[in-house]
Amino acid sequence: MVRLHLYPNFDNVIIMSKNEMIIAPSVLAADFCNMEKAVRLIESTTCEWIHLDVMDGKFVPAITFGHLMVKSIRGLTNLVLDVHLMVERPENQIDFFAEAGADYITIHFESSIHLHRHIQHIKELGIKAGISIIPSTPVDAIKELLPLVDQVLVMLVNPGFGGQEMIPECVDKIAKLANLRKEYGYKYLISADGGINRKTASLVRAAGLDAAVSGSSFFGAEDPCKEVLILKGRI
Ligand code: DX5
Ligand code: ZN
Repeated sequence: MVRLHLYPNFDNVIIMSKNEMIIAPSVLAADFCNMEKAVRLIESTTCEWIHLDVMDGKFVPAITFGHLMVKSIRGLTNLVLDVHLMVERPENQIDFFAEAGADYITIHFESSIHLHRHIQHIKELGIKAGISIIPSTPVDAIKELLPLVDQVLVMLVNPGFGGQEMIPECVDKIAKLANLRKEYGYKYLISADGGINRKTASLVRAAGLDAAVSGSSFFGAEDPCKEVLILKGRI
């Protein structure tokens, strides 16, 4: 898939068209006392998205932040805000995150029942809709949703914590989703989340990944700009 890339640090001018993996740093690995610093750091690189991990202490054990954090970050940046809802009953939260300025709202297959309705609702609000699957959920479980969604987020770890090791068997789902997209002419982006670092990035790139979430590998890097180029496979 060929995409036009916007580099915000070059005055929002489209400077290149490239078949390159999008990198979405997750602020889960940033200093929560200094979110603006984290946003400015992401903006100083060639990253296109910011990944925002919302956890409710029920769907996953930890609690992070809600729509007000997303609203504050929206006030700071024009980067794509990729909101990953790891919450039970995400339908109760969709309007809040839409109002806060999310570009993508991704909900989990495992978190609710009437997913078709909720995906439609996100789209009716003018927001791009994503569906995510945990490692124990097969791609087949979401096949009825594939024609509808703008993004499929493949979890490569069990959600809830950053800094975990990738479960390599989950990578096969990326190639499977790429094949289904080609066969049926679907339009979704394929993204993946968990354990993506300089050692594992080539695996997901080879599988055909469009967008990679990077938490600890980005914020733990000595030189995040260089790290992003490594993850993208440019160096
Ligand atoms: C995990 C989160 C991830 C996390 C990734 O539940 O959804 O987005 O931040 O962190 P790393 O890249 O450290 O695995
Ligand atoms: Zn995430």
